[in-house]
Amino acid sequence: MKVLAIETSCDETAIAVLRASGDTSATTFHILGSIVSSQFETHRPYGGVFPALAKREHAHNLVSVLKEALEKSGMQTPGTHTLPQEKIDAITAVLEREEGLAESFLSFVSTVTRPEIDLIAVTRGPGLVPALWVGVNFAKALSLAWDIPLVGVNHMEGHLLCALAERQSETELRIDSVPLPVLALLISGGHTELVLMNKWLSYSLVGRTKDDAVGEAYDKVARMLDLPYPGGPEISKLAEDARQQGLTSELSLPRPMIDGAHFDFSFSGLKTAVLYLLKGAPETDKATIAHEFENAVGEVLSKKTLRALNETGARTLAIGGGVSANTHIRRVFTKRLQEERPDVSLRIPHVSLTGDNAVMIAIAGYYRALQREFVPVDSLAADGNLSLT
Ligand code: KG4
Ligand code: ZN
Repeated sequence: MKVLAIETSCDETAIAVLRASGDTSATTFHILGSIVSSQFETHRPYGGVFPALAKREHAHNLVSVLKEALEKSGMQTPGTHTLPQEKIDAITAVLEREEGLAESFLSFVSTVTRPEIDLIAVTRGPGLVPALWVGVNFAKALSLAWDIPLVGVNHMEGHLLCALAERQSETELRIDSVPLPVLALLISGGHTELVLMNKWLSYSLVGRTKDDAVGEAYDKVARMLDLPYPGGPEISKLAEDARQQGLTSELSLPRPMIDGAHFDFSFSGLKTAVLYLLKGAPETDKATIAHEFENAVGEVLSKKTLRALNETGARTLAIGGGVSANTHIRRVFTKRLQEERPDVSLRIPHVSLTGDNAVMIAIAGYYRALQREFVPVDSLAADGNLSLT
């Protein structure tokens, strides 16, 4: 089955085409083409993502990202595709509020032959509502234009399933023999949660952040240190440099909620501690702060997660979301699992698939299609607060 997937939940416009085969016991995914167009530069001056701006950027980018993804996949065949007037009217209505997207969309689809795609998967939540809607409406328009069934995908399920996939090569991913239950630590700009997958695609919440998400704390601390947005990779770079130079410091930041009996997290206290530290001692070396901040995050995340592994009896640990790109976090978990729980299978996505992308949406969409969860064009809706559990 060939899956075309669309992701616009935040500040990346992403489209991918995958060939997927197999069932839940063993699945192979061939990435035919995957394009991620980032809006970092647009949002950088504001130090964060503006929903209305994100929406406009997605609307401007979607057709060219689609074109590129189809080209990469060898599916962009020039030709003509004549749509009956009623379809044109339906597509125009669907894209009515998407800032000129209807015109560019219609002119694009009329000049390519219908590609052999069997399924369209689109992120329907969670995320920024205006940004989600552009992607959802774009997916609906494609579904109408090419008569292709549609599934709505939960972005966090995308991160989770993508983490389970083992990379065979740059273009091949495989998910097979995943020992259940799976405990997933999902860490991104908007989420920090521990989720248990007891049965395939069935989830329960183990714990979540009570305030900031880890990625958000990274971004906010980076801003305090005058580092550019998005701050996660910047802090990581500074901290890694400090580690390589063998820096040790007297600095000690709090480890919020590390010993609580529950599995919830809190990161706003850690962020505030950095703020006060800088107020009292503005000359403190940035690399020293970044280093200690990462140590605190790594300790809290790993301690809670290991305890949750013991308590839930999970046999696989999957770590997904943008923050799973972090070198320190990957290292801490790899080491602790080897030492303390070598029986648990650790799955972390290849760094190229940690940030928002459409490959992960195609993977989740494929499994949802195997369960025949197709959605009629009229009833698919974005949901900014869509939850996995
Ligand atoms: O999953 P993602 O791309 O978008 C959301 O769904 O939120 O996650 C983005 C978050 C941002 O907060 C970004 O700073 C963080 O992931 N991030 C990192 C790293 N790369 C991205 N945080 C720490 N270290 C990194 N290397
Ligand atoms: Zn994400």
